[in-house]
Amino acid sequence: MSENSPLTALIVGSGGREHALADACVKSPLIGRTIAAPGNPGIAADSECFPIAADDIPGLVSLAEQQSVDFVIVGPEVPLTLGLVDALQKKGMLAYGPKADGARLEGSKNFTKEVLLKYNIPTGAAASFTESAAAIEYLQTASMPIVLKADGLAAGKGVVIAQDLDEATKTITDMIDGAAFGDASKEVLIEECLFGEETSIHVIVSGKDYVILPTSQDHKQAYEGDVGPNTGGMGAYSPADLIDDELMAAIERDIVKPSVDGIAAEGIDFRGTLFIGLMITKKGPQVLEFNTRFGDPETQVLLTRLETDPVEIMLAAAHGELAKIDVKVKSEYAMTVVLASGGYPASYPKGEVITLPASVGENEIIFHAGTKFDADKNVVTNGGRVLGVTALGPDLKTAADKAYALCDKIDFKSKYLRRDIGFKELNRQK
Ligand code: AMP
Ligand code: GLY
Repeated sequence: MSENSPLTALIVGSGGREHALADACVKSPLIGRTIAAPGNPGIAADSECFPIAADDIPGLVSLAEQQSVDFVIVGPEVPLTLGLVDALQKKGMLAYGPKADGARLEGSKNFTKEVLLKYNIPTGAAASFTESAAAIEYLQTASMPIVLKADGLAAGKGVVIAQDLDEATKTITDMIDGAAFGDASKEVLIEECLFGEETSIHVIVSGKDYVILPTSQDHKQAYEGDVGPNTGGMGAYSPADLIDDELMAAIERDIVKPSVDGIAAEGIDFRGTLFIGLMITKKGPQVLEFNTRFGDPETQVLLTRLETDPVEIMLAAAHGELAKIDVKVKSEYAMTVVLASGGYPASYPKGEVITLPASVGENEIIFHAGTKFDADKNVVTNGGRVLGVTALGPDLKTAADKAYALCDKIDFKSKYLRRDIGFKELNRQK
């Protein structure tokens, strides 16, 4: 590494993922000072937060200049797609996260599908449309259910699995003609529905080099038993033993390596997180999507389990020196349970005072997500996903018991949580 003295790091974003990234910086010997924009009350406990929105590119660049920031870690996808890393690099600043050309792999589902097909990476068959009449004609011969995806970013809501032709036709009309997701659904991908168990892997990429982080599993549905509306994620655990060594070898050979090589062959110098959504089908793993940033709440379990300093890995990726890094992982299991506001992911109350324990035990941490300070400096709810309650344990059951015991010590009026995070894995282990 070229840096000798501790660096100043800036974390961009305000969720649980960003609190986990800030926490990694605070704990890293490589970082002397951590700041965040806009941050949250959890981050503010250790690091100064500046009220600059994560999509205010000029504001973030000036902040980084004014605060003599050495290393910017970008949490969410929006600033990446808006070219924050390009803008920072123009000023000679170092950042972790892809430039806009790489972030297009999350920002355009059509672009991703083109890359996947071009490099023979297993994925569902698909066709793309900008005219509803042509899309509806295509649907006549398609088998149901069928997956309809708005091309652009739609805050995780732009995918509909239509059960029959009527629903598919109505969804296409809403998306293309009704602009259900604004410009994001001007173009729509109609994709074969894949069946199997859904999982994901996180890969830190730097050009043609990559390291695969430990396995983890999110729970996207709002209600217990994996039913109900899709959310940003209600809880996660790591490792996810669904991905055994044999499956991981297949994922690396058939998906990770060709994806990293394909992205480089497209002329994209990707330096950041490639988060690959997968369906483990009877034919093997297939790609559902690429994200170009860490998952939330996966980051909370992944970073907690790393023995190697996460900052060292991210700095090496940003410098193009990832090949030197050997990632070591703790043997413990980690679990994060999301405490949400009742009603999430639809409408939910805000501004409820949160009661937090005065201290937490060893290997326990409460990551803040949708929280803020009110005028009286109380920490109050300010989002759908409020806190990510995280614990480590020698096995998944112990990690879960510790995380849930901590959840029970936290209160706010509309507190909602799933009590079954990790249930499939725990049942498999029985
Ligand atoms: P995406 O944003 O592309 O990951 O899609 C959101 C969710 O839709 C995924 O997490 C899956 O649960 C589901 N999904 C996406 N594509 C497919 C597909 N081809 N087959 C089945 N389910 C899918
Ligand atoms: N937890 C899923 C995501 O971050 O997209």
